[in-house]
Amino acid sequence: MKVGVLGCGLMGSGIAQVAATAGYPTVVKEVAEEFLKKGMAGIEKSLGKFVEKGTLTTDQRNDTLDRLRGTLKFEDLADCDIVIEAITENLQVKRETYAALDKIVKPAAIFASNTSSLVITEMMTATKRVDRFIGMHFFNPVPLMKLVEVVSTITTSPEVMDQAMKFAASLGKVPIRASDRSGFIVNRLLVPYLLDAVRALEEGVGSVEDIDKGMKLGCGYPMGPFTLLDFVGLETTYYIANIMFEEFREKRFAPPPLLKRLVLAGYHGRKTGRGFYDYSDPANPKPMF
Ligand code: CAA
Repeated sequence: MKVGVLGCGLMGSGIAQVAATAGYPTVVKEVAEEFLKKGMAGIEKSLGKFVEKGTLTTDQRNDTLDRLRGTLKFEDLADCDIVIEAITENLQVKRETYAALDKIVKPAAIFASNTSSLVITEMMTATKRVDRFIGMHFFNPVPLMKLVEVVSTITTSPEVMDQAMKFAASLGKVPIRASDRSGFIVNRLLVPYLLDAVRALEEGVGSVEDIDKGMKLGCGYPMGPFTLLDFVGLETTYYIANIMFEEFREKRFAPPPLLKRLVLAGYHGRKTGRGFYDYSDPANPKPMF
């Protein structure tokens, strides 16, 4: 079985990494050489960490890298059995990409989108394989997070769902089934929680640090909501929230004004060096509020 991955960003590179680690020949496609280089460097770094920890041998790392191939051409995905798309979260761009891909990749192949909030049905209709189109939503950081949401639309064939569940398990992940509602299971619950943390901060219920400590130590979460917001990216969360708000028209999905202000000001979290924390000293983030 051959795996294709579209996009070698944070999510795409992680997905390509776990597919190659699981033994699948994997081709990852990007739009420019520089993105490919950056993604591949991330994969090497992550595999290096597993070697350091002793969960992967040097030979396994080398074999994994041998199974991975980067490309800038759709044609190199033609004989893939499954193509997982993790490109920019823009419906129009995704639809155009799927329409192009549908003509090139063999008809028996499954198409899977890693979108976190866009409607799978809206992407699927850009192709002719509406029975072989699903969501496969991985979590950041992909090499560490166990969960994959496998998402069916009203036209997905049950056999394709079963194949996708088995494939996700073969990557060492734990798959769960969800239906095509914006945000699926995890973001439907996670996004209102993150937005509520921002509202609690706006209302002066507690500081960034205390709200984070509260949820970490009071509920056993690995990261408090502001650390997680900075980790996911504030602009990403803002974007997801707006899509979910549009889908459900419910206040709990509406991004609070402070989140919007931070996004507008370019405070996107870890990746820009500032969000709810300042990462000038990455080992010792300082709360902004
Ligand atoms: N590859 C390999 N190793 C990695 C890695 C990667 N990509 N990222 C981190 N590690 C390593 C670290 O280097 C560290 O190694 P050492 O033990 O040798 O230091 C180890 O993994 C553990 O990491 P940390 O010490 O940083 O701390 P941790 O125990 O807290 O684990 C975590 C990290 C798994 C990220 C954990 O903090 C966690 O589960 N956080 C919550 C993440 C989360 O909720 N993700 C979902 C986000 S939402 C999403 O993705 C969906 C969406 O649609 C928005």
